[in-house]
Amino acid sequence: MTRPSQDTGPDLWQCYGARRTRADRVAGVDGTFHWDWYQRNEPGAEILGSLDGMAVIEVGAGTGRQAAHLAGTSAASEVTALDSSASIHERCRRSYGNVPRLRVVLAEATSYLVERPSAFDVVYSVFGALDFTDPRRLLPAVVASLRPGGTLVFSTLGHYRNGEAAESWVRSAQLPTALADGTPATMERWVLELPLWERLLAQAGLDVVGVETVHDAGRGGGPPTATRIIRATRPAVRQL
Ligand SMILES: C[S@@+](CC[C@H](N)C(=O)[O-])C[C@H]1O[C@@H](n2cnc3c(N)ncnc32)[C@H](O)[C@@H]1O
Repeated sequence: MTRPSQDTGPDLWQCYGARRTRADRVAGVDGTFHWDWYQRNEPGAEILGSLDGMAVIEVGAGTGRQAAHLAGTSAASEVTALDSSASIHERCRRSYGNVPRLRVVLAEATSYLVERPSAFDVVYSVFGALDFTDPRRLLPAVVASLRPGGTLVFSTLGHYRNGEAAESWVRSAQLPTALADGTPATMERWVLELPLWERLLAQAGLDVVGVETVHDAGRGGGPPTATRIIRATRPAVRQL
């Protein structure tokens, strides 16, 4: 097992990983690619564009079913399923470690990407590292790791799950969670309004090329949820 390339502190994702693995077992890998957990319709993997021969990485891949799906169904040269949680990484490795062209990596996204300039054609995140890492730190690393012309696609909450509006300036919410032994803990999540994401992406040097909004009924009868799927590209080098 590779070690994370940066100390990530206590593993806040153990309980989530156990729940996710149970849910995946019930649902199975159903041959579709979703940008949020309740989505039943399009868009799917097609908004990543053609993956033929592409080096693809999911940052915050969790238990890995989306990355495994892409490795199994596309002609990408390699799909990397990266996650910084040792427990989740181990679950991903056990479930999908044998899928051809899937690389399962334990690492913190910012440190990993910054060390791999122009290594990837596509970086994507499904409520993954983009939601749980300060974008002012992560986005420059994403840009550095993308080849010119490469694409970033990520899904993120359009507003808080309780219906409260997303943030209009860059600040995180503290979400309650628990360590494996039940000790209460908090984790940071960035729920930002669309114009702010657009500004941050532009500041990092990315062109926003598409935004889609998926509406869900809401979890357990809760308020409806809007998920944003944001696509941005690193500008190609101009031929003079
Ligand atoms: C809500 S889960 C989503 C997982 C998966 N994409 C899915 O759809 O089930 C968020 C994941 O992002 C990972 N994560 C958060 N910040 C990260 C970072 N900076 N680097 C790598 N992984 C990160 C967590 O460990 C966790 O597995």
